[in-house]
Amino acid sequence: MNIKKAEFVKSAVYPKDFPRGDRPEVAFGGRSNVGKSSLINSLVQRKKLVKTSKRPGRTQTINFFNVNDELYFVDLPGYGFARVPDEVKDSWGPMIEGYLGSRPNLKAMVVVMDLRRGVEEDDYELIMAAPHFGIQPVLVFTKADKFKKNKRMQRRRELAKDIDANPGELILYSSTKGLGRKELWKRLRYLVGV
Ligand code: GTP
Ligand code: MG
Repeated sequence: MNIKKAEFVKSAVYPKDFPRGDRPEVAFGGRSNVGKSSLINSLVQRKKLVKTSKRPGRTQTINFFNVNDELYFVDLPGYGFARVPDEVKDSWGPMIEGYLGSRPNLKAMVVVMDLRRGVEEDDYELIMAAPHFGIQPVLVFTKADKFKKNKRMQRRRELAKDIDANPGELILYSSTKGLGRKELWKRLRYLVGV
């Protein structure tokens, strides 16, 4: 995918403040610190479009990005981080449900997981919830650079077995090395229709 334009559009919490859903949209969800924001930067090849951080819980609102004036990428706040204040934790569910329930233009939900940690309970819930909102979950395991190639493939087979999926459905990714970028774009383009 040739990226001509990638820009921040807005940050919002409530559907009334979301940009008009006038183009296809892809959301990125996953645990805190798993690498969602880095994944978006890697896909659009902009090092600093989305803020990333070593500190978990960096992204706490829903952030919309315009890609090539053709689609939106949406960075969702991470879940499962114990040290965020309770009021932030309690608002996560309603915020995400409000989002999922109000975007008919949403074509795919990328569920970002850490290849080392695998599929955790919250991830599984999100994967299972996606079809109820009429969207396809795309399973991406990032930080794959932490494994040697043989181990990576072995890990992919193990994880696929855990969730009863075909290993080919799992995309291994590394935002630092660009691994998996072509494959993920191919999948997204197919789902989004661009
Ligand atoms: P929150 O916004 O807090 O939910 O985190 P996030 O999921 O957006 O994670 P973010 O992209 O900020 O990355 C978290 C940390 O993981 C940063 O220190 C990144 O540099 C690192 N990281 C992200 N992706 C990769 C990757 O593919 N490989 C390696 N080695 N590190 C990564
Ligand atoms: Mg983030």
